[in-house]
Amino acid sequence: MAVNAAERNAMDRALHLAARGPRGANPQVGAVILSPDGTVLAEGWHHGAGTPHAEVDALSKLAPGEARGATAVVTLEPCNHTGRTGPCAVALIDAGIARVVYALDDPGAVSGGGAERLRSAGVDVEAGEQADAAHALIAGWLEAQRLGRPQITVKWAQSLDGRAAADDGSSQWITGPAARADVHRRRAEADAIAVGTGTVLADDPALTARDGDALLPHQPIPVVIGSRPTPADAAVHRHPHSPLFFDTHDLHTVVADLHARGVQSLFVEGGPTLASAFLQAGLADRLLVYIAPVLLGGGRLALTDIGVASIGEARRLTIDEWVPLGSDLLAIAHPAHDAHPRNEGAA
Ligand SMILES: NC(=O)c1ccc[n+]([C@@H]2O[C@H](COP(=O)([O-])OP(=O)(O)OC[C@H]3O[C@@H](n4cnc5c(N)ncnc54)[C@H](OP(=O)(O)O)[C@@H]3O)[C@@H](O)[C@H]2O)c1
Repeated sequence: MAVNAAERNAMDRALHLAARGPRGANPQVGAVILSPDGTVLAEGWHHGAGTPHAEVDALSKLAPGEARGATAVVTLEPCNHTGRTGPCAVALIDAGIARVVYALDDPGAVSGGGAERLRSAGVDVEAGEQADAAHALIAGWLEAQRLGRPQITVKWAQSLDGRAAADDGSSQWITGPAARADVHRRRAEADAIAVGTGTVLADDPALTARDGDALLPHQPIPVVIGSRPTPADAAVHRHPHSPLFFDTHDLHTVVADLHARGVQSLFVEGGPTLASAFLQAGLADRLLVYIAPVLLGGGRLALTDIGVASIGEARRLTIDEWVPLGSDLLAIAHPAHDAHPRNEGAA
């Protein structure tokens, strides 16, 4: 049976409700229960890991028997597995739901299969309603599921001659105000922001996302990686979120831990040692390189060893965008998938 106007409106509403949930280890999901005549009976959304899923949240607002013959409109396929909560497909069947309209298939190997379970219990199931909008809402979660870790952006600022700092270690500020404002906007889009102990000790960064002096509404969780202790009076201790400290150089362990905490996107802000280590470990999905028209010379290169011994091993990039920012230039790039060396004839 085709999706009707009341169900389409309910999906709009369910998408709106889903966005109220937190970004984290679980996807944001919304649900609306409609009576057979299209009246909204109940609404629900997922409030975060360990709490009821959206469908169950909505059903919990109804008296026993009230959902009999009703339609559940959900942004994600009802799950089919028992985690901290029971399978939603079973909860819907038990409540007497007659029809389910959902947007996006559940990609999870364990949680998927809910639609089949509903159908085999005689529930009418319609998939794909507003799937693009539902996908956009949880794109970060889907990507982190696919990768098995957060999506990682490695960012640095450099002089035109490829230096990340002057010879005395000072690097504030290589770039101008437009580039720095751009960095802050992008920090606010990330769930976490990482630096090495070297940067904490050299620059004492706040690791907040700011517009001028004002904090932006979303703040990334600050992450410090390395063995040396962070001073008790370091600015990172005044961050709105408690910082996470990882006394290790094993970046795979760090990103696995962040993934388990529900971090979907990680912004790595250097310095050169940490940026190089992420690249060497193959843990860079996207690069943001802010290039300033200034020369610094000296030995403080933007990257150190990334495991390239000869030109054949060069880490080729694909440029997604060149963005002029005042007198600076931002290169947005990702690792090229065909890693073949360029052949442009004799030099
Ligand atoms: N231009 C820019 O964008 C930018 C950005 C940030 C910093 N900087 C500049 O960079 C300089 C600091 O550079 P840095 O390279 O020392 O900073 P860093 O990369 O932030 O910190 C390096 C330290 O991180 C620890 N670490 C954590 N994981 C590691 C791993 N997998 N491999 C190796 N080390 C790891 C090590 O310290 P432990 O011994 O404590 O384990 C290492 O010495 C300063 O001058 C700062 O101003 C520039």
